[in-house]
Amino acid sequence: MAIEIEGGRPLKGEVTVSSGKNAVLPILAATLLTKGGALIHRVPQLSDVHGMLELLRGLGANVQESDGDVFVDARDIVSHEASYDWVQRMRASILIMGPLLATRGRARISLPGGCAIGTRPINLHMKGFTALGAAIDCGAGFIEATAERLTGSTVYLDIPSVGATENIMMAAVLAKGETRIENAAKEPEIVDLAGFLGSMGARLHGAGDSTILIEGVDALEPAEYTPIPDRIEAGTLLILAAAAGGNVFVRGSRPDHLRAVIAKLRECGARISEYPGGLRIRGGKLRAADIKTLVYPGFPTDLQAPMMALLSMAHGTSVVTETIFENRYMHVAELRRMGARREKRFCRRRF
Ligand code: UD1
Repeated sequence: MAIEIEGGRPLKGEVTVSSGKNAVLPILAATLLTKGGALIHRVPQLSDVHGMLELLRGLGANVQESDGDVFVDARDIVSHEASYDWVQRMRASILIMGPLLATRGRARISLPGGCAIGTRPINLHMKGFTALGAAIDCGAGFIEATAERLTGSTVYLDIPSVGATENIMMAAVLAKGETRIENAAKEPEIVDLAGFLGSMGARLHGAGDSTILIEGVDALEPAEYTPIPDRIEAGTLLILAAAAGGNVFVRGSRPDHLRAVIAKLRECGARISEYPGGLRIRGGKLRAADIKTLVYPGFPTDLQAPMMALLSMAHGTSVVTETIFENRYMHVAELRRMGARREKRFCRRRF
């Protein structure tokens, strides 16, 4: 597929943000935790979402889709394994491990080379499962976690990993006793997952703070839930409108989830007004600004590439520092082909 863009025109109009992909994926994985079925509204049509639904079907779940609603009934799960194909295609496949371990006492995923996916390791997910009493078997291209019944414990995350926090939360909601996740990720998607788990009757406190407490329960109830709007999609649309100029209303964007992005776009010369229904952005003359990606509420790594595209059009030199993923500068070569200039003195990677 190719997309052809004829640039040089200001953007005008209104656009509505979908539900957050990174909120929906763990929520879909968490539907495995209830035997009573879960109905999720406003599920976006994306390849990763399609992949997660196929993965759930492959495990034996009954998945029904209708007009953006997805119903998952995990009563008749027959498998506890995500194959290499799925994990390779969709990294979020790892999120089925916590729910499967909690409900079936066993979860297995196939990985290239054993214990790491390229440079994106899963050691913290495993550290959490081990703390809850699971045995981890790793070898010949797979990782398997097993436990009779998980037992609550304290888990300190060396890095506030979003996926590890989610996986441990999902494993702990049915564990015996209390689990405490320290140095947990604070992303809005963590709060949303806690909201969904809470709607099923799980007992969690502190999601959105660096310590999350989970009191295990014996079973979870059926639930119905609408995930939060996609802050990365909203941020991308805001950056696009700022870069192209014009006047755009991004309906459904939540300013409380986008503080760092709004601040940086204002620094770059955009005018942004906050309304109950969303954000209006008016482009101005673009000025340079320095960006450093950080865990939430810092500037999100997922918006580093679009922001760099904007900065390459701004007046002056901007310094972009990626601190979350070490190989997230692949777009730089393409921007240079389009005429962006990179100053050598700023070419060090800072971690
Ligand atoms: C999630 C998002 C992704 C986003 C990222 C960071 C989803 C589906 N994806 O990915 O879009 O870019 O958060 O905001 O929600 N790490 C370890 N050991 C681990 C796990 C992670 O060292 O066991 C490291 C990673 O290599 C990385 C950092 O922690 O350097 C952050 O990764 P993490 O927060 O786990 O990202 P994901 O959950 O994979």
